[in-house]
Amino acid sequence: MANVAIIGAQWGDEGKGKIVDLFTQDADIVVRFQGGNNAGHTLVVDGEKTVLHLVPSGALHPDKLCVIGNGVVVDPEILIQEIDGLKRRGHLQDDSRLRISEQAHVIMPYHKAIDLARERLRGKGKIGTTGRGIGPAYEDKIARVGIRFIDLLEEDTFRDKLQRNIEEKNFYLKAILQEKALDFNEIHEGYGRYRVRLRGYVTDTGLLLDREIRAGKRVLFEGAQGTLLDVDHGTYPFVTSSSTITGGACSGSGVGPQHIQQIIGISKAYTTRVGSGPFPTEIDGPDGETLRREGAEFGATTGRSRRCGWFDAVGVRHAVRTNGLTGLALTKLDVLTGFKKIPICTAYRYEGKAVNEFPASSKVMQGAEPVYEKMDGWDAPLDDVRKFSDLPANAQKYVRRIEEVIGTEIILVSVGPGRERTILLKNPFGEA
Ligand code: IMP
Repeated sequence: MANVAIIGAQWGDEGKGKIVDLFTQDADIVVRFQGGNNAGHTLVVDGEKTVLHLVPSGALHPDKLCVIGNGVVVDPEILIQEIDGLKRRGHLQDDSRLRISEQAHVIMPYHKAIDLARERLRGKGKIGTTGRGIGPAYEDKIARVGIRFIDLLEEDTFRDKLQRNIEEKNFYLKAILQEKALDFNEIHEGYGRYRVRLRGYVTDTGLLLDREIRAGKRVLFEGAQGTLLDVDHGTYPFVTSSSTITGGACSGSGVGPQHIQQIIGISKAYTTRVGSGPFPTEIDGPDGETLRREGAEFGATTGRSRRCGWFDAVGVRHAVRTNGLTGLALTKLDVLTGFKKIPICTAYRYEGKAVNEFPASSKVMQGAEPVYEKMDGWDAPLDDVRKFSDLPANAQKYVRRIEEVIGTEIILVSVGPGRERTILLKNPFGEA
């Protein structure tokens, strides 16, 4: 019985929401295992658009169990808003369909204040974070001063931890970041309300998943962000603060690696990035504008316009290796319709030398020039194509060439946002 992980193979925004939603039909449980409401997973079902930030994408299927794993950092206010929004639209009617790990860390107001103030002080050197407090919340987790859901549920533990933290955070906010201090009572009261509202969802999700897997249930692990934003394997320091790779699915859900059989990377047929940091294939000019316009490349979380570039096989090969990808889903191929030539970056060049592997050095990455192979484009729209053999010959060649240069099989090609605009070559759940 296959369990499947869906992982971003680029800098996030690869279209994971749609693919997760699609494969959820064959799963029983969908698990988020890292990140927080920095993510924005867009789902288009029957023409209706839903953007989810925290609740796993399985929420639009009434019979699926959605789990927010221990590796996620949760802003309770945002989670409550999301649950309410889903309920208003007729989803998530049964509260037992959503479970939150008691070990997941809670994002506090000081995390958001610190995130925003630091970015302001960094000026030109800013990371371009989403400002949601993600980095500071993970810092507290690693520093062993974070507040978990289990701590929030125990009133005395919560009061003690908040008291200790607020003293230190207020000192830091005032003296170092030149911000206003936060009020203990206000936070204590507000989070008291969140405790009451969310208590019923909180449980030991690692244990729950183990039981369900043993009972033969199929699990889909839903990654957020992407491999090149991974805190270890991405373009550090221009990364997010969690493990976005497959390894993170295990540590962030409490499930052993033997339970994940299929690992599907998601990549656009080109590349985008939001926020700062190196991006060797970024296009400076009208082709970049065309990609942004045709691909509607504006952030689902912050609305920021995304930087656009050509497909970067060096980055995706890095994702194939660090995640152990067993297949790749290629999204937004339709956006490339109309380009006469479509470059694929197969390697970088730095100071005259070829670079075939994704560099750890920021300096090398900033100075890396893409080595391109130019493929012929196609003119026919792809919207109604449902079979690979019905794609224009040059579009087929483009996909097959990507497969060769990244060294893994392409199992799906997406040609539009809706569920139906999909060419499925192989179902990772098998003959589900
Ligand atoms: P943070 O996760 O808010 O700390 O932001 C760190 C970096 O990750 C910034 O460059 C963000 O733009 C980027 N980032 C965070 N979440 C996402 C996402 O869901 N998609 C794309 N980029 C993201």
